Amino acid sequence: MIYLDYAATTPIDPDVAEVIRCTSLDVFGNPSSVHAAGRKARAVLEESRETIAQGIQAEASELIFTSGGTESDNLALCGTYAALTQKNRRQLIICSTEHHAVLESAAFLESLGVEVSRLRVDEYGVVKEEDLRAALRPETFLVSVMQANNEIGTIQDIRSLATIVHERGALFHTDAVQSYGKMEISVRDLGVDLLSMSAHKLYGPKSIGALFVRKGVPLKPILHGGGQEAGRRPGTESAPLAAGFALAADKAHRSRDADMQRITELRTRLASSLLKRFPSLIINGHPEHVLQTILNASFDEAEFELDGDALIMNLDLRGIAVTSGSACTSGSLIPSHVLAAIGRSVSTARATIRFSLGRMTTESEIDQTADIVEEIVCRMQKR
Ligand SMILES: Cc1ncc(COP(=O)(O)O)c(C=O)c1O
Repeated sequence: MIYLDYAATTPIDPDVAEVIRCTSLDVFGNPSSVHAAGRKARAVLEESRETIAQGIQAEASELIFTSGGTESDNLALCGTYAALTQKNRRQLIICSTEHHAVLESAAFLESLGVEVSRLRVDEYGVVKEEDLRAALRPETFLVSVMQANNEIGTIQDIRSLATIVHERGALFHTDAVQSYGKMEISVRDLGVDLLSMSAHKLYGPKSIGALFVRKGVPLKPILHGGGQEAGRRPGTESAPLAAGFALAADKAHRSRDADMQRITELRTRLASSLLKRFPSLIINGHPEHVLQTILNASFDEAEFELDGDALIMNLDLRGIAVTSGSACTSGSLIPSHVLAAIGRSVSTARATIRFSLGRMTTESEIDQTADIVEEIVCRMQKR
């Protein structure tokens, strides 16, 4: 199989799997228990928290473990709303190309009476600063703009956006689920108040993530139960998953520059190989400010009449794993909201492939992929 769907999830690093296995057997205590077994689990949990926090220049106390990116996004949006609603802060601003975890959290808050403003993006998927300035109001409690888009890879200028938001007294959240591990992230340099992360996008385990919450930022829990995670996220923490997450984060941190250089070359190779075969192919996303792990390409409707889902299925039959849009919505036939936001028509959006590259991707896989895509597209066109 040629796996080119790393943006959906990554295979677990064997060292990470081993740490989880060993920790699961040796460190089974409940981190909240006061006895030795509990204290041992607590030590692993806090050591892991420290490692992950250091990687983004945060303090350990500013990190809340969650079940993943979706929960982190929900907690950021709904938790700040719950904490600030008494202060008459009832407007939320998000970007129209956010992941469903943010879009649906915003829709839920809207159903409770929150006014939600959705910022449009330009043809590359970039938010315009003047649109943000125009949308901000004294009642805005939070602005949420993702750092890198999961479908087209466009990277936003988070630092500038956060500065604008702070000038107007609101909080700023960024969903860094895709960029985490691939870009250098310092929450201090970015100036964000909240930042979402997920372990399974960087060769870590599934079902664990974290939310950075800057010290002093008001946040109420959205789940109700025990007092874990400093009263902000109840539920028994998993020391084994935290240890796996920390090792994955540490390894990503160390190998990032070398990995990204290699992946950038592979992405360029794939893009030029496809463009040679299909000169009218549209590469979606920003030409420079783009996550190099993602190559999102559309076959123009003027030239091609392609059913994207049939294309993906045919590629799958030949052993190539790619996706037609966001993995979390694949399976549904609704064209991607991200491609619609950057101006792609319904049929062009349908004839779109997201290739996402990772640590194990090789040159030979890239070359084989280009050959197979050409063969399948030509065959589908002849029908
Ligand atoms: C940008 C973005 N945010 C949030 C999520 C959800 O993360 P998780 O799968 O850890 O819940 C994803 C997953 O695809 C994502 O790409």
